[in-house]
Amino acid sequence: AADSDTDYGDFDFIVVSNRLAVDRVTDDEGNSSWRRSPGGLVTALAPVMAKTDGAWVGWHGAPDEALDPFDEGNMRLVPVPLSEDEVELYYEGFSNATLWPLYHDVIAPPEFHRTWWDAYRRVNERFAKATAASAAHGATVWVQDYQLQLVPKLLRKARPDLVIGFFNHIPFPPLEIFAQLPWRRQVIEGLLGADLIGFQRPSDASNFLRCVRRFLGHTIRQQQVQVPADGDAPAYVSRAEAFPISIDVNAITELAKRQDIIERSREIRRELGNPKHVLLGVDRLDYTKGIGHRLKAYGELLEDGSITVEDAALIQVASPSRERVEQYRLLREEIEGAVGRINGTYDTMKNTAIRYLHHSYPVEEMVALYLAADVMLVTALRDGMNLVAKEYVAARTENRGALVLSEFAGAADTLRQAVLVNPHDIDGLKSAMVTALNMPPAEGIRRMRIMRRQVLQNDVERWSQAFLTALRNGSAGNSDA
Ligand code: G6P
Repeated sequence: AADSDTDYGDFDFIVVSNRLAVDRVTDDEGNSSWRRSPGGLVTALAPVMAKTDGAWVGWHGAPDEALDPFDEGNMRLVPVPLSEDEVELYYEGFSNATLWPLYHDVIAPPEFHRTWWDAYRRVNERFAKATAASAAHGATVWVQDYQLQLVPKLLRKARPDLVIGFFNHIPFPPLEIFAQLPWRRQVIEGLLGADLIGFQRPSDASNFLRCVRRFLGHTIRQQQVQVPADGDAPAYVSRAEAFPISIDVNAITELAKRQDIIERSREIRRELGNPKHVLLGVDRLDYTKGIGHRLKAYGELLEDGSITVEDAALIQVASPSRERVEQYRLLREEIEGAVGRINGTYDTMKNTAIRYLHHSYPVEEMVALYLAADVMLVTALRDGMNLVAKEYVAARTENRGALVLSEFAGAADTLRQAVLVNPHDIDGLKSAMVTALNMPPAEGIRRMRIMRRQVLQNDVERWSQAFLTALRNGSAGNSDA
């Protein structure tokens, strides 16, 4: 009765994320079109959403443009507009120059600005409002990632009938680092609006729970937080648990078996001059990915003669990302400088040391690259999960190839047969690359087979089912409506 004047929407299931699966791009002539959005979140959620008839609430990637909801496949896309200013303050500022570096072990120094925080609050309110307007009575809403941490609490307040989940795709930092955030209480309270808060790794969940205890003083039993009553709002239980994310395994393995893609992978090797070894790195151009450390190690291997440009070629795909954020500009200078120095020193008329590609590619080309590569290099300094590592493993249908994988990526929790490495240790990184390059075939096959079994059994469908089942079961016990 309390919400008799609430306007309910039509959807029983809603995903909310900063980005929709598609980005609106406008070319020089002013023609606009849609393009798939970058990053792991969309990689994971697009196949999940394609199978449910729910709504996806998110930004469509262009500033100062209000679009009506539209249908794509069997889902409804609900665009949330951002002004030019909000792109700068909420997206580039608070999300990607405050939270992103803070949550990734302060690899780059986070900046704290009150104007950014104000915009973050304002935009989170807009997302919560758009979601509330689309949600049917009792609907399940699943909020995604660090850009929208205030949405769960705002939604719970506006719509106590909803079942609210949250998933954090990136790491949750240790208390000692999170403590720097001037708005740490508000962020934790925002997240606790969810009935279930999902993290990539158990350590992320326990970092979060430590922060809840320290900064809010709530009672915690195992992974359950007792959130006390607040005015009219009743007390409830919010839970924090790990749900490691994955990929659409079938989509990747199907592509890996397609004749034209296999042929394309051969062509890639031919175009490189058929070297004995092809190594591959695929990352958004982001300072968390450890691309500079990887290049340093590779350069030293060329210098000491462990590898030669005739025998080995490194393909480094660095897809453009957050290009107006200062740290990303600096990184691009640094990486392109390093590539230029190494190629300038070791290239011959015929061979090049590093094939550097500042592009993003469709998934078909990505799979061709995975098939072309003997060694995949994932050397992130910190990464929530890293889905490129899982995609490489899924694509290796013949169980050949080696994965060099950073201990600091969430994927290292499960892909134990990779050549695991601490990317800060340049000598360790060099020897990991050499180990991968010289892995005896039988040993390589044994390792890849175990990793493939792991990835094939845990695809993204299973991830979303596990989360949503836990969300619905737990919440049924909680509701005293
Ligand atoms: C990571 C984040 C996502 C983000 C993606 C791409 O995967 O977890 O939330 O969408 O990077 O970054 P962008 O800033 O382009 O959305």
